[in-house]
Amino acid sequence: MAELKNINSPLRLNNGVTIPCVGYGTFRTPADVAEQAVADAIEVGYRHIDTAAVYGNEEAVGKGIKDSGINRHRLFVTSKLWNTERGYESTKKALDESLEKLGMDYLDLYLIHWPANQKQFGDRAAEINAETWRAMEDAYHEGKIRALGLSNFMPHHVIDLMKTAKVAPAVDQIEVHPGWPHTQEVKYLQAHNILVEAWGPLGGQGAKVLTNPTMEKLAAKYGKTTAQISLRWILQQGVLPLPKSVHPDRMVQNTQIFDFELSDEDMKTISELPNLGGQCKDPDEVDF
Ligand SMILES: NC(=O)c1ccc[n+]([C@@H]2O[C@H](COP(=O)([O-])OP(=O)(O)OC[C@H]3O[C@@H](n4cnc5c(N)ncnc54)[C@H](OP(=O)(O)O)[C@@H]3O)[C@@H](O)[C@H]2O)c1
Repeated sequence: MAELKNINSPLRLNNGVTIPCVGYGTFRTPADVAEQAVADAIEVGYRHIDTAAVYGNEEAVGKGIKDSGINRHRLFVTSKLWNTERGYESTKKALDESLEKLGMDYLDLYLIHWPANQKQFGDRAAEINAETWRAMEDAYHEGKIRALGLSNFMPHHVIDLMKTAKVAPAVDQIEVHPGWPHTQEVKYLQAHNILVEAWGPLGGQGAKVLTNPTMEKLAAKYGKTTAQISLRWILQQGVLPLPKSVHPDRMVQNTQIFDFELSDEDMKTISELPNLGGQCKDPDEVDF
């Protein structure tokens, strides 16, 4: 932790690529807002942008990046393969479409958005994930992606994938926030040299994380906001948060998390909070 000084302090992935330790999220940011929001985020200092094909805003995100005037090579851009595009050929095609929409010739990180699960695909689930991954590995070797990762993969999905993977996943992006800590999963992934990214780090739209009385008490104690307490709690676990806001004042607030440290006791208190809402989905149970 000591070496993390600001949102762009680098973390090293298992393939040597570095990633800014806080990213800017764009889920539920409509295309007509995303261009300005992304330009604003870059203006206030974010260099790591997280989008996905299914957000329907890749074109606007790409424009926002262009508007910022910051050289592409100084930014870290992630996108994700949507569930309808799994499989070898469709993955390669979907990646090319994302690149075209973003107006880029490479991504820094490309993720499988959700694992194919047994509920939907029975015994074929593992094979579908393996074929999707094989396409991503080929794109990685072709230079279209600098790092490969997963999203919403629980340890048992990772174990299955590793049976055939030739390139180990560098990242797993899962839901992590107070009330939904995924503690065992985070420990497992970190022990296997996979960087964990926290989606919904503030609990997402409408969750009770930011108005929880314990969080409010801690915010008063540290002279910070509940959003900053949540983000700091994530960072102190070695997890990379991806806060989303379309408001420049909140974008800035969400970067000001490097001038205080939560005590071990307060970390534990937050980790033990009851469920406070969020999406809290089980990837083995989703039917999308
Ligand atoms: N891989 C996945 O399956 C997956 C799923 C969900 C999300 N994600 C990624 O993770 C990112 C973050 O998740 P998220 O967007 O669901 O939720 P989030 O970042 O936890 O929360 C965003 C919500 O909090 C509000 N907010 C932001 N900063 C605030 C602050 N300082 N004070 C008070 N409210 C604040 C935002 O409103 P305003 O915008 O109005 O400020 C928005 O309603 C996404 O944008 C996306 O990039 C990935």
